[in-house]
Amino acid sequence: MIDVRNAVVEYGQGPQAVRAVDSVSLEIARGESVALIGPSGCGKTSLLFAMAGLHDLTDGRIEIDDSPLDGPRKEIALILQNAGLLPWKTVLQNANLSLLLHKIYPQKTADAVLEDLGLGSVKQRFPAELSEGMKRRVGIARALSTEPTVMLMDEPLASLDTLTKERVQDLFLELWIQHQFSLVLVTHDIEEAAFLGQKIVVLTERPAQIKMVVDNPEMGALAYRGTDAFMAVVSQLRKALEE
Ligand SMILES: Nc1ncnc2c1ncn2[C@@H]1O[C@H](COP(=O)(O)OP(=O)(O)OP(=O)(O)O)[C@@H](O)[C@H]1O
Ligand SMILES: [Mg+2]
Repeated sequence: MIDVRNAVVEYGQGPQAVRAVDSVSLEIARGESVALIGPSGCGKTSLLFAMAGLHDLTDGRIEIDDSPLDGPRKEIALILQNAGLLPWKTVLQNANLSLLLHKIYPQKTADAVLEDLGLGSVKQRFPAELSEGMKRRVGIARALSTEPTVMLMDEPLASLDTLTKERVQDLFLELWIQHQFSLVLVTHDIEEAAFLGQKIVVLTERPAQIKMVVDNPEMGALAYRGTDAFMAVVSQLRKALEE
């Protein structure tokens, strides 16, 4: 379980300090998926990076499976916008980066994950030779390679065209069901939040505080998009964001 208690993130100190996250408390069960949605610049990335162990909290605490989070961990994977691929490395080298960072490579490689994601035939290609959808899948392969129990995503599908975006959302849903990791997805896309979040946390303007939590019990199937329940959640989220 991820347990965020009264988390505060500030940049700088003293009177000049900028508060990005203000006393956020959130529990995410093992295997649960949570979408975080809120206005631009409200503090979403700051909160997510704190959950990745990349930011120290100014106040409050974060525990993962009852142990205090004090830095990056092998079981926590992070996927960033535009996948963060290194252009001078091949698909396979890019996918192996997390394993390398955690000193698991070369005992284990990302080969099998790339095969699973349909990237087996492009392993020796470079990112510039891939479509946008394929690049995102390489980023996903990198994140999955360490078999994380927590998957954190920061607007992983921003700037994709609608069809490609929906295809990769479908893939996220299937991987979440298959691997049963806890998923925290930061997005500004209301439909993405409604498709992938069992629980959708709406944040306020900066500093981010929790404005509303919307339950979304019927999510979990590819056919959910377009159902009445889905549309009801979408309109509830739209209203919450506009208020
Ligand atoms: N390293 C930093 N130093 C100072 N201020 C920062 C730093 N990083 C972020 N901020 C400020 O903190 C606030 C929240 O930033 P953050 O990136 O967490 O927001 P966000 O919700 O992810 O925004 P976006 O929707 O644009 O991705 C912003 O006002 C930003 O200017
Ligand atoms: Mg951000």
